[in-house]
Amino acid sequence: MKIELDKNKVYFNNGSLKKEIHPFWLRERVDGEDFLDKGTQQRLFDPTVLDNQISIESAIISNQFLEINFNDGVNTKLNINKLTQEFSNEDLVIKSIPKIKWNSTLQNIKNFEYQDNFFESKEMHDLLISFYKYGFVVIKDIPTDDNFIVKFANSIGSVRRTNFGEYFDVKSKSDPNDLAYTSLGLAPHTDNPYRNPVPCIQLLHCIENEVEGGLSTLVDGFTVTEDLKKEHPEFYKILSEIKVKFKFIDKDVILEDQSELIKLNDDNSFKQVRFSPRLDYVPMMDKDKLDFYYKARKQLSKMYNSDKYRIEFKLAPKDLLMMDNYRLLHGRTSYETKDGNRFLQGCYIDYDSTEGKLRHLKRKYNL
Ligand SMILES: [Fe+2]
Repeated sequence: MKIELDKNKVYFNNGSLKKEIHPFWLRERVDGEDFLDKGTQQRLFDPTVLDNQISIESAIISNQFLEINFNDGVNTKLNINKLTQEFSNEDLVIKSIPKIKWNSTLQNIKNFEYQDNFFESKEMHDLLISFYKYGFVVIKDIPTDDNFIVKFANSIGSVRRTNFGEYFDVKSKSDPNDLAYTSLGLAPHTDNPYRNPVPCIQLLHCIENEVEGGLSTLVDGFTVTEDLKKEHPEFYKILSEIKVKFKFIDKDVILEDQSELIKLNDDNSFKQVRFSPRLDYVPMMDKDKLDFYYKARKQLSKMYNSDKYRIEFKLAPKDLLMMDNYRLLHGRTSYETKDGNRFLQGCYIDYDSTEGKLRHLKRKYNL
């Protein structure tokens, strides 16, 4: 990608295509100290009130800078590298991390270890990369005092508080209001599909785990839906087209949201799965269509619940599991309360936390 000049017009040339860059687009990017705050990199002027008829009076390229005099008297020196990076308009940090498909054969995934200054460390950068590749990561040796999970979450970004509070305790209770608070097994599901937006990332911190069973289970929704697309394209199609309603009701609130079980981006790439068959309401459709939809959902459920895709592992005290709630399904195997205590704490954070942290650490370590 090159910047070229021709009679006071600025062009970009990527080898096969040469296009003029709008003078106003360049005028918006003037970056002298009168125009851009050094610290925040925010504009000190409002481009929406400028005259749209801005033109270039003269321009030269010297070294890696494009120097322009505009007809409103403003002149600037723009970094050409910075400009060309912007042309692609892509989030190179997150999108360049490839999602790795995995199933029950997944082995030797790296665990991370908590240490001093962890949140600002290169290790934290590597952890986040691993998280985006696999959709989850386990961090060992996280302190368990004073609801440390909240501190952990707030050191990456901000806790996403819900009506269940800032964090929640997962242990069996005598009068549970959710199956999570029993010792029953939990089939793979995603959390809170009825929220708008759905919390992006769940943290689960093991405080005590003295029981025999109670293994944590994970399934990669990305792998399953990619396989479904290959093996049953019509099922994949209808599950990514029909929106179902998810609902949560208690005495204080009624939460509802609608979404496809497989949600795609505009370019048809994977965006999100929601799966919680105790909370979903399929819309009324023609009988034949519903017939087909139910077949598709059954197949998806069969795959989510199959041994082929599930990994199981036991969280030890001080382990923290961080998982992508848009990509992974999670659950647990049953356990006996007579064996002893099983106590986990959970909370949510959103993608802006992990994305912002990762961009920051990349900048800090020049990666
Ligand atoms: Fe859950």
